[in-house]
Amino acid sequence: MTAYINNTKFDYHQGETILDFVRRIEKKQDAIPTMCQDNRLENFGSCRVCSVDVALEKDGPAKTMASCHTPVSEGLYIYPNTERMQRLRKNIVELVLTDYPENKIFPSEGKKATPFQETIAQIGIPSIRYPNGLNHLPIETDTAHPYIKSDLSQCINCYRCVRACEEIQGDMIIGMSDGDLQPI
Ligand code: SF4
Ligand code: FES
Repeated sequence: MTAYINNTKFDYHQGETILDFVRRIEKKQDAIPTMCQDNRLENFGSCRVCSVDVALEKDGPAKTMASCHTPVSEGLYIYPNTERMQRLRKNIVELVLTDYPENKIFPSEGKKATPFQETIAQIGIPSIRYPNGLNHLPIETDTAHPYIKSDLSQCINCYRCVRACEEIQGDMIIGMSDGDLQPI
């Protein structure tokens, strides 16, 4: 079973996603930027940051596919980081940043970067071309819980917490309501 990455042929594994294939061949976890994907969870395919160009022939007409959600198939030509994909990723992050605190784009001093801050650093900060619209920035940080501090003004709707609650804990006690995280 073989497919191509940037026109070089490699063997792929049965059922392997394009994301895992490219990561394995390039030996880099961040070979393709991601946002909603988490190795501990089922792939969700919602943010499209991991999109790649895919063609059926060498340098042929390309379609955009979410690499975390698409299995490799025989003879596929995968182009992970074309200019078109870099622009697309920047556009997606630009939209997310219209509802994200400006002072949280970089990690706070002495703090580890959040996964989203790592994604921003990898993709590059886009200029925001859209006016401020409805947002959830005024939500105050909740420090009432002894184990979890939640700052939902930084929520990017990746659903990882909801999916972890359901898939790992088996609890299904949080969900999204009108785009905001809520207990259910
Ligand atoms: S609160 Fe949940 S949905 Fe929001 S960014 Fe964090 S993990 Fe993602
Ligand atoms: S990382 Fe693949 S769709 Fe979000």
